[in-house]
Amino acid sequence: MRSTNCWWSSSTPARSDQTTQIATSELRVIMPLENQGLFCGRSEVMGMAAIEGKEVALFPTRVWLFQPDEKLNTSLDRIQDLLLIWLAEEKLDPQSWRSARGCWRLENAHLKPELKEITEHLKIIIKKVCQACGISSDRREFGSWIDVMDTWGSHVCHHHAPNVLSGVFYIAKPEGAGNLILRDPRPARSWHEPSAQALEIPVEAAPGSTIIFPAWLEHYVEASAGNEGRIALSFNVGAELK
Ligand SMILES: [Fe+2]
Repeated sequence: MRSTNCWWSSSTPARSDQTTQIATSELRVIMPLENQGLFCGRSEVMGMAAIEGKEVALFPTRVWLFQPDEKLNTSLDRIQDLLLIWLAEEKLDPQSWRSARGCWRLENAHLKPELKEITEHLKIIIKKVCQACGISSDRREFGSWIDVMDTWGSHVCHHHAPNVLSGVFYIAKPEGAGNLILRDPRPARSWHEPSAQALEIPVEAAPGSTIIFPAWLEHYVEASAGNEGRIALSFNVGAELK
C-alpha cells in the first residue's frame, strides 16, 4: 500500500506514479541515540530518547548469473565448429558492428535450427529472470546475435536501452579471452573513487554460463590477452508486443 509518510519527507505528498516507497511502518531497527553520532544532535533538537531506523538499498542493480548446463556443454564444441564453418563460408574479415570491434557477427541466432539447444536453454533462464522482475516473458520483442571475436576484438562501452533485459551466453571463452566489464551506473561515484577499476566489475564467465543484466547497464568487453578470441551469443529482451 502506498503511503505519504516517506521517511525522506513527511511533508511532501508521495508521487502517485511511484511504485516503490519506504513507509515508516517498515522501520524495525531500534538504535539508542546516545551511541549513534550523527543522530545524537537530532535527538537533542527533537527531544527524543530513541529513533528507529534501518539501511535501505534504494536503487540496487540486479544481475543474474547462471552456471553452465552439463548437457548443453557437451554440444558447445560442435556449435563452435559449426560457427567457424559458417564464418569460413562467408569469407568475411572481422569488422566493426555497432559497439563491436574486430568480430564476425551472425544475426538472429535464435532463429537457427542448429542452435536450438541454446535457444531452449535461454528461454528457461529468461523466464526465471522475468518472473524475478515481476514481468511476463511471453510475447516480448527478442533479438540475438553471435559475435566471434578476433584476438584483438573488443566492445566499446555501450548499453542496450530501450530494451528491458540483456544477456550473454558464452559459447567459447578460452583462457585470456576478454571479460565482460559492468560499469557502476552511478556516475557521481567517480568523485569518491578516482580509480576507474573501482567503478568496474569484470565478469569472469566460463563457457556455457549466462549473465543477464538490466539493458540500461553500461558495459564493455576487454580485448583478448590470449591467443584466441571469444564466441558469445548476446540477446535483448524488449518491450511487450501489442
Ligand atoms: Fe552489449
